[in-house]
Amino acid sequence: MSEKKKILFSGIQPSGNLHIGNYIGAISQWLEMQENYNCIFCVVDYHAITVKQDPEILRKKIIEIAKIYLALGIDPKKSIIFQQSDIKEHTELAWILNTITRINDLKKMTQYKDKTKRLIEKTKNKIKNKDKLGNILNLKTKEISRKILSKEDSAGVGLFDYPVLMAADILLYDTEIVPVGDDQAQHVELTRTLARRFNKQFGDTFIIPELKFRKEGARIMGLDNPEKKMSKSALSELNYISLTDNPEKGAKKIMKATTDSGSEIKYNPEKKPGISNLLTIYSLFGGKDIKTLEKEYKNKKYGEFKKDLAEIIKKFLTNFQKKYNKISGKEVEKILENGSKKLKVIADKKIKEVKKKIGVL
Ligand code: TRP
Repeated sequence: MSEKKKILFSGIQPSGNLHIGNYIGAISQWLEMQENYNCIFCVVDYHAITVKQDPEILRKKIIEIAKIYLALGIDPKKSIIFQQSDIKEHTELAWILNTITRINDLKKMTQYKDKTKRLIEKTKNKIKNKDKLGNILNLKTKEISRKILSKEDSAGVGLFDYPVLMAADILLYDTEIVPVGDDQAQHVELTRTLARRFNKQFGDTFIIPELKFRKEGARIMGLDNPEKKMSKSALSELNYISLTDNPEKGAKKIMKATTDSGSEIKYNPEKKPGISNLLTIYSLFGGKDIKTLEKEYKNKKYGEFKKDLAEIIKKFLTNFQKKYNKISGKEVEKILENGSKKLKVIADKKIKEVKKKIGVL
């Protein structure tokens, strides 16, 4: 890592399928950043286990994410790629930060609230409808609320504590820049709060990291529901195009994407969310601006536009997967190992400093 450049940290969870929205929203921007910062890109496996994971699938996904980083152009000569659980100082620092975190800090977190709400909704529906044998239930209201309450309490402590581990990830390396989407901004804000709180109590120790928002206009919406962001945990596969989707299948998903009433190909996210989303995708992957596309497709039909876009996506996936398939699992393991080796030195130094400050060393 070069001395003069600022340190940047970011990570992606090895769960679900990385899609073209993640590529545009995060990784494509990392590619530019790796020229200007000392970048650390993490596969955050300990965050992934805050919801239930199948161990076999998780193991595969960890390698898959690292391989995707590489195939998309993250260069291990310029940036560090590593697996979070390889460096035990992350969890060690998370524990120490826990002791200065207030329950209230965490209760405010929107992501936690959303995730538990989803858990509760699921239980509600289950209770309302059927028991295990499929008998329609008619439970008394009291009984229902008791079950829902217990579900709220049964949300994992890991899920609750997730932002503190994220703060540890960031603070451990004297990170100055954290590029994230708006859904993670609150977690970075908490990181800053914890860093300040620690510094105030124990003396200057942590750098206060800056949040770097993603570029505007790079938000890709769901193909089957263009009012909401494309999501790797969407119910329908037609919502997203995975980077590992068969190229033909990716093209088909474009053809099936929701469009709007009318027939004009015009960018207007409010009135025409479907076609506007497709215009955004076309512009990003086809390298033309939206105004040019509107002119090119004036008086043409949705079908024709979609066919051309499908072809572009097919090409992108084919090219990406060619690179992806060339990288072996062994190679990835080696790169992750090298990454951890470099970072261990920094993490060890930092945790010693922290332990001294709090009086355990
Ligand atoms: N919570 C982030 C997400 O889901 C992933 C993450 C974990 C992260 N640790 C981080 C991002 C540190 C930036 C910095 O998107």
